Amino acid sequence: MADTVYLNGAFMPLEDARIPVLDRGFIFGDGVYEVVPAYSRTPFRMAEHLRRLQHSLDGIRIANPMSDAEWSKLAAELIAKNDGEDQSIYLQVTRGVAKRDHAFPKDMKQTVFMMSSPLTTPSQAQIDHGASAITASDFRWLKCDVKSVSLLGNCLLRQMAADAGAVETILFRDGKLTEASASNVFVVKNGVLLAPPKNNLVLPGITYDVVLEIAHAREFEVEVREVSEAETRDADEIWVTSSTKEVLAVTTLDGKPVGDGAPGMLFRRMHALYQDFKRDVMRKPA
Ligand code: PDD
Repeated sequence: MADTVYLNGAFMPLEDARIPVLDRGFIFGDGVYEVVPAYSRTPFRMAEHLRRLQHSLDGIRIANPMSDAEWSKLAAELIAKNDGEDQSIYLQVTRGVAKRDHAFPKDMKQTVFMMSSPLTTPSQAQIDHGASAITASDFRWLKCDVKSVSLLGNCLLRQMAADAGAVETILFRDGKLTEASASNVFVVKNGVLLAPPKNNLVLPGITYDVVLEIAHAREFEVEVREVSEAETRDADEIWVTSSTKEVLAVTTLDGKPVGDGAPGMLFRRMHALYQDFKRDVMRKPA
């Protein structure tokens, strides 16, 4: 089956989807997006993703073009029209098409786009051995809680990791851990799970919330607080989380082993709990 996408009211083959070059998404990166994993053709945590979409839209003053029920219906239709039990659903809303002017033109009609890709989660080797990451200073803007399609900062930072043969670039701002170029970051020290708080400097990750929910339910020792660069470099374990990476151990940071250089005990426990949690949710969809 050819990839089917949704654009402004219609489903069509990917290669037929076209937007005008004056779309403000193209000209200014003026839009927001979501990535929702679907397991066994069921979106995972859809309500939470739609809540974050609303937060992002509010953050850049675009009206939500659809109700949550309409978004969910569209996502279900898109999933049904594409191959694969596990899919990654990408949805994007831009301010729409207008003559180029930085200020928002009046009476804009949002551009709405949705596509599906195969959901690629970490390989068994990555789960077993962990991944490597590098570090960099977080030079992005101060509204990282908005899931903006203006991702140049994230792309430059992620490319630094790619150039170094690493999976992620972990970011520090003013000596504090923020997140990574496309994931949230957790640190374990002396058996305590440390999580940087959700604020304007990080994307409020849906996976981050699931991990904290599991950690609290299973009585992990958890501290949600600022984590210093020194603590990160001295960590026993580092994890990165995202909808596509799920929970992944970072076992090498800037070429040095994290802890003993193998995925830690808490990671192995959390990874297993996360897989169980997913399976349970899929058995009884909300
Ligand atoms: N990225 N932080 C950043 C900067 C991200 O881009 C992402 C996700 C996350 C994790 O959020 P979540 O757990 O909701 O996926 C944190 C997606 C997957 C992407 O851009 O492809």
